[in-house]
Amino acid sequence: MKRIIVFLTTLFGLATAGFGQTADTATTTSLWDDPMLTFYIVVGFIFVVVVLVLLVALYMLQVLNFMVKQATRERSERLGITYQEEPSFWSKLWDKSNDFVPMEKEKDILLDHNYDGIRELDNHLPPWWTGLFYVTIVFALAYLGFYHLSDTLPLPIKEYENELAVAEEQARKMKASNPVAAIDETNVTIVTDALALADGKTTFLTNCASCHRKDGGGDIGPNLTDEYWKHGGSVQEIFKVVRHGVQGTNMIAWEGFISPEKMQNVSSYILTMKGSNPENPKKPEGEIYTPKPETTSDTTKVQASL
Ligand code: HEC
Repeated sequence: MKRIIVFLTTLFGLATAGFGQTADTATTTSLWDDPMLTFYIVVGFIFVVVVLVLLVALYMLQVLNFMVKQATRERSERLGITYQEEPSFWSKLWDKSNDFVPMEKEKDILLDHNYDGIRELDNHLPPWWTGLFYVTIVFALAYLGFYHLSDTLPLPIKEYENELAVAEEQARKMKASNPVAAIDETNVTIVTDALALADGKTTFLTNCASCHRKDGGGDIGPNLTDEYWKHGGSVQEIFKVVRHGVQGTNMIAWEGFISPEKMQNVSSYILTMKGSNPENPKKPEGEIYTPKPETTSDTTKVQASL
């Protein structure tokens, strides 16, 4: 797709502004960093030249044709013969690909049987149709061979899987190069530095306080300062609730509204409110949460299997 865009832009540039100017105006887009750019420009240039040459040739042919006809007409007039124009290439092609039975000969192909006055005209299939039919047979055989028998080309499901693999690889690279964007409930940690917690507090006050109260004491949403949790009180579990929300409740999924880093900060901030005993707290909901000795569930699993 990117290549096609470069190719078309190049063509457009050639047609309107010329090389120098397009290169100037386009320095902002990353398309122009493409190392193949010179190649596209050359190919685009050749393409334009070829099209122009073809147009000129077509025009010359037209003129020549006209002159030949003119000369023939004049000569036949001199010889006293009535000039009859030859059918054009297109009308010949039309006749050939349809191969109609002339109207006068239709009675020859009329079949004998007669259904209450309706009779059958045994016209043959037009050659363009049979031709197409044979092409589909050849195509089907080639398709069968390439896709199903020899596995040279990937079937749609395989193609889909390949693209998924490419996307996964890209996602992995992106995560590796940008760890902050890659925070999720499997690798979220409790952050302790003041700046991050202050950021978490701001997020909490702007987005969450309306339901959980400024002090976290709970209102529409549960009390976040006590030991009772509906969905677990580990940072992973809190992050998960914040990220995906709780379906069917007022707790929406915040993913997409708040960056993963901010979700980590606000989850950590919530944990700092534990035991702050705000006034008039909402009564406990859920179960008492006792932290497991290991912080990440992954290590617990590994230990369990040892
Ligand atoms: C529109 C109201 C509303 C807003 C805004 C809201 N919440 Fe909630 N929240 C709820 C409700 C309701 C629940 C309880 C869901 C349930 O019943 O499981 C909840 C549950 C939670 C829980 C799980 C509590 C538990 O007991 O397991 C956490 C953590 C939480 N919210 C954090 C947040 C954070 C962080 C924000 C801001 C980014 C936020 N909420 C914004 C309504 C809200």
